Formats: sequence, structure tokens, C-alpha cells
Amino acid sequence: MTYDIKDINLAKRGKLRIEWASNDMPVLKLINERFKKEKPLKGLKIACCLHVTTETAHLAQVLKEGGAEVLLCASNPLSTQDDVAASLVKNSGISVFAIKGEDTKTYYNHIKAVLSPKPDITMDDGADLVSTIHQRSPSEHSNIIAGTEETTTGVIRLRALAKEGKLRYPIIAVNDAMTKHLFDNRYGTGQSTMDGIIRATNKLIAGTNFVVCGYGWCGKGLSMRAKGLGAKVIVAEVNPLRALEATMDGFEVLPISDASKIGDIFITVTGDINVIRKEHFLLMKNASIVANTGHFNVEIDINSLEGLSKSKRRIRDFVDEYTLKNGKRIFLLGEGRLINLAAAEGHPAQVMDMSFANQALSAEYVAKNYKKMKNEVFKVPDDIDKNIAALKLRAMGIKIDKLTKEQEKYLASWEVGT
Ligand code: ADE
Repeated sequence: MTYDIKDINLAKRGKLRIEWASNDMPVLKLINERFKKEKPLKGLKIACCLHVTTETAHLAQVLKEGGAEVLLCASNPLSTQDDVAASLVKNSGISVFAIKGEDTKTYYNHIKAVLSPKPDITMDDGADLVSTIHQRSPSEHSNIIAGTEETTTGVIRLRALAKEGKLRYPIIAVNDAMTKHLFDNRYGTGQSTMDGIIRATNKLIAGTNFVVCGYGWCGKGLSMRAKGLGAKVIVAEVNPLRALEATMDGFEVLPISDASKIGDIFITVTGDINVIRKEHFLLMKNASIVANTGHFNVEIDINSLEGLSKSKRRIRDFVDEYTLKNGKRIFLLGEGRLINLAAAEGHPAQVMDMSFANQALSAEYVAKNYKKMKNEVFKVPDDIDKNIAALKLRAMGIKIDKLTKEQEKYLASWEVGT
């Protein structure tokens, strides 16, 4: 078995941390039990490009129990938990290619490493596998039957590829399942981003002007949690509906240039590039903190921050102090990479349980149905989504009501009115 990880001796610690996460992944555990018996992925090679975390370790194990050969690389150079990578290699027999802090060249070498055994299925978080395959060597991968995609940014890239008519195999947009984005994006990003900022800075959030750029599901969750910690939340948006929603949710809405003058902490979570730029850095107060929790490190224009600065030093882990030529200091967290995974551990297991249940069941679905699927981006089938919600409720010990026959009939009728 080939692998490239930081240190195999970290496996013992990784194994314990993976066990800890298992306490909160009951849905994935149920799927694991069924996969063990039914082996729905037998004979398939799955290349996964995911954040290498304790939660991902459980997904990789479930896929393996289902009969697949699993190859795993990181979906971000800073998100790998090296002890988890070591445990997956040593205790689970999974080929892992991921080292926290790897440079861009190593990151792409690791992507090539999981693609070189010619996988049948790709499982992406951000679409770097799909994009590499489509840009470099599409014909070499004609055996790929289907793929899955975890995150909003990846789904946007895939839809662009499909729109150009270039997508070479069907892909399920796991992100778009209700049991994914309503929970993982909102509650997962909300909590883990605050966790990352606090672990990196040890700053008090209460009383700060906390600027959230982007009010999608992740931005909503983050704003909610920052407010809960006592921050005065300011939202910057480009979408009128979302800006209106943020206003009615009780947040101040301002253009970034206005927010730049008063913010203490700035977080980008838009999925777009150069959201915080040169003109904004110049307006910021001394000692402003800037971070990103969107998928790629493109949301903050770091080049222009470098250009404005006369010096830079690492003042704490995950905190770079830039001293501008005008004497002002700006602190950039986690090199502009997603701070919840760079400085903290990503979303808690309780939400990843549902996200990764969607991944496992979508892999099973494509293994069964790929021949009927066109080269398009598909939704997770509704019955899978609803079933995951029902299993999660059951695992949480929450009971709900059922429609009576009379109610069912009423909902299916049109005759009865006022
Ligand atoms: N994305 C966000 N949080 C994550 C986690 N804990 N594991 C894997 N992917 C993630």
C-alpha cells in the first residue's frame, strides 16, 4: 500500500480521536453495519479528495466496509489532521496522501497519487479531482462511472463545467441535500469558524464589530453564532434577497467599504474572489483581524496586502501580522485558508454524520444507477435525504407526529375551501 503522510507514529493519537468522533456519528454507524453485510461498493476504487479529519476517517471506513478500495488525499493544504492520516494508514489500510501545510506542488502530487490507480468513482470537496481530471487527462479516466461533490464551491464549478457541455461523468451534488447544507453549512460552519478564530487569536468576541461577507447558509450560521457570543454583526452582501434577509434577521447591512472603517474582525464566506481588497485594507482600523472560511483562499486579496506592507511576521500559530507602509497593522488568520479547518478541527461530528451519510448513500446510489444517469450534476434523491433526517431524529431520541389518513387525504385534495 502506498501513502504519503507526516508521521506514522501519530497513529495512536489519531485512533483515539477517531473513536471520540464515532460517539456522534450514529447515522453513519447504521450505514456501516448495512454496508458490511451488503457490500454495495464491492470491486470499486474510490478516490476521495476530502478534508482529512476524524469525521472523514469514519466515511473512509464505511466506504471500505462497503467493499471499496479507498484512496484519500486532502482537499486543502492546511486542513489535514496528521494523526488521523497516520491512523487511517496504520489501522484501516487506507492509502492516504496528505500532510498538513503541504505546498501547492505536493497538494497536486497527492491528487495525482489518488488518481493514478484509475478510480471508478471520485468523491470531491471543492472539485479539485474533477477539475484536474478534466484539465489534464480526461481520456485516461474514461473508466470513471460517477462522482460526488461535498461543497457549494465544488457544485458551482461542476455546474459551470456541465453548462459548457464538458462534464464527462454524472456527479451527485451532496451539498444540495437538505440534510447537508441546512445543518453542515449553517451550524457546522457557524460554530467551527468561531472555534477557529478563537483558537487562533484567543480574543473576546463580545463587543466587537464582526463583519461577515456573504449571507448564504454558511454566512447565516456564522452571523448567528457571532451574535450569540455578543458581537455586533455587520453583513456585507451583493444579493438583494440575502441582504434583506440579513436585515430582517436583525443584522446591520453595509457595503464592505463602509464596514471596513468600523470592523474589528472580518470574515469572508462568499465563494468568490477578492472580496476584501486593497482599498478595504487601507480603510481598516489598526489591528483589524481578517480571516476566510470559504472553501478556497481566494476571497482575501493577500497579494495586495503583501504589496501594502513593509513587514510581516508570524506572531502566533495561524496569525500573520502585516505592518503596512502607513504604520497600521493587520492580522491575517490561517494564511486566508478556511479558518475552521486550519486553526480548529472543522465541523463537529454531529453534522458531518449527516453530510457523510449523504456521501456514502450517494456512492451506493451511483454504483447502482450510473448507467441510467447522463453526464450532469444531480440532486441527492429525496428519499435518501428524508431517510437521513429520520435516522438522525431517531438517533437523537426525537419522536415526531404522523399525518392521519384524513390529513393525507385533505392534502391531496382541492375541493374543500372556506
Ligand atoms: N468540512 C468541514 N468540516 C469538516 C470535517 N470535520 N470533516 C470533513 N470535512 C469537513
